Amino acid sequence: MSLLEVKNLKVHFHDAAPDRFAVDGVSFTMEEGDILGLVGESGTGKTVTSMCIGGLLPREKADTEGSITLGGTEIFDCTQKELNRILGNEMAIVFQEPMTSFNPVYRIGRQVGESLYVHGKGLSKDQKKELVLKAMQDAGLPNAEEVYRKYPHELSGGMLQRAMIAAAIVTKPKLLLADEITTALDVSMQARILDRLKRLNRKDKVAILFISHDLHVVNRLCRHVIVMQRGKIVEKGLTKEVFENPQHTYTKQLIAAIPSRNRRSRD
Ligand SMILES: Nc1ncnc2c1ncn2[C@@H]1O[C@H](COP(=O)(O)OP(=O)(O)OP(=O)(O)O)[C@@H](O)[C@H]1O
Ligand SMILES: [Mg+2]
Repeated sequence: MSLLEVKNLKVHFHDAAPDRFAVDGVSFTMEEGDILGLVGESGTGKTVTSMCIGGLLPREKADTEGSITLGGTEIFDCTQKELNRILGNEMAIVFQEPMTSFNPVYRIGRQVGESLYVHGKGLSKDQKKELVLKAMQDAGLPNAEEVYRKYPHELSGGMLQRAMIAAAIVTKPKLLLADEITTALDVSMQARILDRLKRLNRKDKVAILFISHDLHVVNRLCRHVIVMQRGKIVEKGLTKEVFENPQHTYTKQLIAAIPSRNRRSRD
């Protein structure tokens, strides 16, 4: 059994044209410890796919078909309570906008540790704090003790993004969904975050579904890649092979559109 199995996923928003599916028959699997990139032009269904996996698609707005299982559990059959438990344990999500993801009135440490306060019953206050500090270090935040006591407005965008990653990994999830998390950051901050994600993947075997516009970043981070166009998968495979020898016209266009200074290096 794979860690994640997405089978023939279809999503139709009620306010869209009858024949317009935001996600149109998407199937893929992820194994434990895999890093899978999800690329494709804007509006192609990447975020909607990840929201379905995270159980976050507003059910009153869209109809869905197909199946998503995480460790054998069907996400579409889960109650809100079960989803909350899964999201605090096996699965975690990091979004693009760290500024809006943190509550301005609480200190960072408390917010990074939120999952532990909800799900970490049986842990003492000190043990929880220790896990939070450890997650902050693992996410690459310097001076974790200091950051722990700060408020969101006292951190830079890159630090907040790392604090979000810390919040996501504090419970050691098996799957991390990361949606455009490096897009708004400068190149050196991107590199640091990629480095941390790689380490988490290697050290803790966290599988990562990494959504990005940036094929350069995907090339550096992801073992496998899926290319989506208008709600459908047009190509998937080992990143190296897909990027070196794209089969589909759309993938060729995407690759041709990468600025050449970015195409040079693979590390
Ligand atoms: N809440 C919503 N209500 C109606 N339609 C939506 C909603 N959210 C997304 N969609 C539609 O679903 C389609 C896929 O959107 P999605 O956000 O998944 O694209 P994306 O690939 O993540 O794009 P981007 O790269 O810009 O983030 C789009 O046509 C979008 O308009
Ligand atoms: Mg998106």
